[in-house]
Amino acid sequence: MSSDDPIARFLDARSRAVAAGARLDGAAAVLATATPDGAPSVRWVLVKEAGEEGFFVYTSYESRKAAELEANPRAALAMHWPEIGEQFRVEGPVRRAPAAVSDAYFASRPRESQLGAWASPQSQPIASRAVLLERVRELEARFRDGPVPRPPSWGGYVVSPLRIEHWIEGAGRLHDRAVFERDAGGWKMHRLAP
Ligand SMILES: Cc1cc2nc3c(=O)[nH]c(=O)nc-3n(C[C@H](O)[C@H](O)[C@H](O)COP(=O)(O)O)c2cc1C
Repeated sequence: MSSDDPIARFLDARSRAVAAGARLDGAAAVLATATPDGAPSVRWVLVKEAGEEGFFVYTSYESRKAAELEANPRAALAMHWPEIGEQFRVEGPVRRAPAAVSDAYFASRPRESQLGAWASPQSQPIASRAVLLERVRELEARFRDGPVPRPPSWGGYVVSPLRIEHWIEGAGRLHDRAVFERDAGGWKMHRLAP
């Protein structure tokens, strides 16, 4: 697709990747964050929703990535779908998702994932896996058959894209790189050499 709207390009590519067999609904992405003095770190996450409002990622607000995002609210995401030979890179400021959005996504998750979010102090040291499994058993007893509410320490972040690159694999290393940058007038596109 050669749309001049990078969000439309992203959504189109993701659905083609899923149709071509991409796992995890084509949602796997690498999320880069950095400390205020510029030390970077990356990890895989799932980009659940993507649209005009931004790219939504859900995690623990007590995790390492959250600590870095709270102190330095900027991030970069990269997604690669080998099934279709395309990559997207997204960069921009980050904010927490509205509580209602995090609530709705949490409510849609399988019960064991909901309990896992309560049980896991993400990115903190734990004594053993047994400690974690014991916490899950305690939580099962606590919530019984009732609904599991969203833990206050868990929710979404939204990356608002200011720059999106769409990379399309080409023959002989002549890949196509379309870079979109957003200003007050909307998205402007230019090409980069591969
Ligand atoms: C394919 C894949 C998807 C993942 N998705 C998420 C996710 O959506 N949210 C999350 O918190 N961790 C996710 N993880 C785990 C993270 O990679 C990471 O281990 C965890 O978030 C802790 O990272 P941190 O210590 O840098 O905060 C995923 C891992 C993989 C391999």
